[in-house]
Amino acid sequence: MSFEINGKAFSQTPRAGQCLRTFLRELGQFGVKKGCDAGDCGACTVLLDGEPVHSCLIPAFRADGHAVTTIEGLASDGGLHPMQQAFLDAQGFQCGFCTAGMILTCVSLNQAQRQDLDAALKGNICRCTGYRAIEDALDGKTNIEEVEAGEAFGRSLPAPAGPLVVRGAAPYTFDTEIEGLLHVKLARSPHPHARITSIDKTAALGVPGVVTVLTSEDAPGRLYSTARHEKAWMDPDDTLMLDEVVRFIGQRVAAVVAKSEAAAEEGCRKLKIDYEILPAVFDPAQAIAPGAPVIHPDRTTEQRVANAARNIVAEAHGEFGDVATALAGSAATFEGTFTTQRVQHAALETHGGLAWLSEDGVLNIRSSTQVPFLTRRALTEILNLAPDKVRVFCERVGGGFGGKQEMFVEDILALCALKTGRPVKLELTREEQFIATSTRHPMRVTVKAGADKDGNLTALQLDVLSNTGAYGNHAGPVLFHGCGESISVYRCPNKKVDAVVAYTNTVPAGAFRGYGLPQTLFAVEAAIDELAKQLGISPYDMRRRNVVKPGDPMLSPQGYGATDVFYGSYGLDQCLDLVERAMQAETQKADLSPDWLVGEGIALTMMDTVPPDGHIADTTIALCDDGTFDLAVGTAEFGNGTSTVHRQIVASALATTVDRIRLRQSDTANGGHDTGAYGSTGTFVAGRATQNAAEKLAGELKTFAAAAMGADVATCKLENDSAVCDGRRLSYAALATSARQQGMTLAATGNSGGTPRSVAFNVQGFRLAVNKGTGQVMILKSVQAADAGRVANPMQCRGQVEGGVAQSLGAALYEEMIIDDGGRIINPRFRDYHLPQFADVPRTEVLFADTYDTLGPMGAKSMSESPYNPVAAALGNALADATGIRFTSVPFKPDRLFPLLKEKFGETP
Ligand code: FES
Ligand code: FES
Repeated sequence: MSFEINGKAFSQTPRAGQCLRTFLRELGQFGVKKGCDAGDCGACTVLLDGEPVHSCLIPAFRADGHAVTTIEGLASDGGLHPMQQAFLDAQGFQCGFCTAGMILTCVSLNQAQRQDLDAALKGNICRCTGYRAIEDALDGKTNIEEVEAGEAFGRSLPAPAGPLVVRGAAPYTFDTEIEGLLHVKLARSPHPHARITSIDKTAALGVPGVVTVLTSEDAPGRLYSTARHEKAWMDPDDTLMLDEVVRFIGQRVAAVVAKSEAAAEEGCRKLKIDYEILPAVFDPAQAIAPGAPVIHPDRTTEQRVANAARNIVAEAHGEFGDVATALAGSAATFEGTFTTQRVQHAALETHGGLAWLSEDGVLNIRSSTQVPFLTRRALTEILNLAPDKVRVFCERVGGGFGGKQEMFVEDILALCALKTGRPVKLELTREEQFIATSTRHPMRVTVKAGADKDGNLTALQLDVLSNTGAYGNHAGPVLFHGCGESISVYRCPNKKVDAVVAYTNTVPAGAFRGYGLPQTLFAVEAAIDELAKQLGISPYDMRRRNVVKPGDPMLSPQGYGATDVFYGSYGLDQCLDLVERAMQAETQKADLSPDWLVGEGIALTMMDTVPPDGHIADTTIALCDDGTFDLAVGTAEFGNGTSTVHRQIVASALATTVDRIRLRQSDTANGGHDTGAYGSTGTFVAGRATQNAAEKLAGELKTFAAAAMGADVATCKLENDSAVCDGRRLSYAALATSARQQGMTLAATGNSGGTPRSVAFNVQGFRLAVNKGTGQVMILKSVQAADAGRVANPMQCRGQVEGGVAQSLGAALYEEMIIDDGGRIINPRFRDYHLPQFADVPRTEVLFADTYDTLGPMGAKSMSESPYNPVAAALGNALADATGIRFTSVPFKPDRLFPLLKEKFGETP
């Protein structure tokens, strides 16, 4: 077979049945990505004779006699195609995993297709951006700024990896070649609850290419949690690497290691596994009822399972004041029960990793993780290895959203590498991602609220039942967080919380952007609106009257007030004003038939800028011989933009430009500890450590320059890559040379322990129309105001808000993992799950409050998760405004809305 790739002739022959995607990657074209291998995401897009195709759907032999263009070949002479430049100028990417495919689709569009991007881009999914920055790229907009030395912070600087991302050259987890690589596939349970009585490996080991099969007999017997937190006691020890009992459909049963993926898959199919079926329970209310099947009968409170006999992982109960009495005496009251569903992160890069032993006996793990340091810690404990014998690192990560704050592949990869002594690879399929990683916790939230005749809240009560699935990773912390800021943002003398999280025989839930708040806010923000309506007060004024103000304690009865959370800045009042003004501003009226009902709704969120109980970052900065800087931080970059912000902090503190700062990150071999990229901490915690190191180094540079020039250090300042003392200038390169001659390196380390913490705020507003005859929802206007302190990078921060709103809109309107009566997920594919596509996402107007956080780095606060939180709640309030019906269950799919609309408005033709 002969064909052309990027203008070069090739004559390789694909394996029987091989698709073009894997064939191209085997030929080194790593810009061709896998998001689904089913034709649904577009990450694998290439041009075949100039036409965009999903290469995962094309048999490789079809390239015979044709010309294939991958992102690597889009531009000649190492330059950039205008579309690649446009994506750079607009920064039309975040994690960048979709970008190669997106650019290739965009370059192929003709004028007519450009006029109908909704249709033209329907084959390319981006999970990060919310598509607006991509539309900006197509419109030729420039969103980035150029700045002088020392002026980086607060400006819209581009991501340092941008040029590599648009060329398809940014290395992700699997974009490397390793000699002698073996492949791991996992046999998974078809039963929701069963005991494995025997595994016959004989036929599997007989499959040509199969090297070994590992079962529970080969795995360590130490219990752990897949959740990664700085403090391990935040999660229960309830998981074994390979267990003799399976508790959900999709749980690992055995690992087959083989010379090819196909052989490993065949080996899995050939395993003869016998099970004793155990009774299962899928509903959390049934799970905690007397007589329910017990899912983890042997777990104890020492292992941090609150009540194993009742399938309760964790619970929280507390009250201050007297809610019942307050409700009885209130002028207005509301009670309602709200339910949220199971949704998936759907990061475009699935979980996966590579593991190998280097010659010095170090176990190396390169994986798609948000938490390399915590993963290394877990591996050393589970496998009883010395910390210096394990290295965990990540390259660029293709989206995380909390789903990679877990250890879903690294443990089994480590075991396979240690048992075989060979390098091994495990890359989850999209289906495995759905059935065997983690999801958002579905919750049932009953809210009771009361207010006096003036609209002052008198009582606020939450009763929460959360479903953690078969394992308790993040079960307690998500529950506690969900019952925290959702009500502590309101001043109210009487509050009560009763919250329980239950095991069920379903796929485990875990960390997901917002960490419990989107679920509880859905109920709380509805209650605030309903009280306002009863009292004839506007939703804005109701909130203004009741939200905490600087100086107010932030109280949630489950733990009262955290002692290390302060108002480092306060912009909630501004956010409410900004959204109110924007919603009132004249916008083009939609031309709608009378079947459409129009309404508006808002919701707010407060979010601590760091999770409780410790988040650590250590940073090192060194001046290099050429006057540039080497910056080492531990946190990972997965589209959240921290690698840009950290360099901005250093550039501002050291009077240089970001291009003169080399960044090394997310590698346990790289020095200082970092808890990881979760809890919106990349800017706030690692940023503080970076600022700390940069300011120390600035002091050192001035001291050294003063000594070198015989000047008073008080006269020294840093300016344009130089130290200036007494009007005399010494460049950083000269300082470095001088230091080296004296046997010194000019360097500094910085640290942050994640405390004290501040609070960030967001307010979301929607105007929407709902069709009373069909239940269809159309977003007419979307506005979000954010208090991110001094905004470190307005373009990036806007992207975080746009992306958060888009992801949350998917969850609020249609995303849902559907589990049948037997505990099986029936839609574990993008095609049946419905991620937001270009056409689904309205443009959100993003507005920033003008504040400066005294606790954050250079005045900044976090803004990764919180934009997600108020979206479903604001939509619910807008639907209620439009229809007069309080819809209490997400997603707001037409078939869910329709029955109630029909009941109220009758049959509509
Ligand atoms: S990987 Fe080919 S369309 Fe998703
Ligand atoms: S930037 Fe599009 S999926 Fe991450």
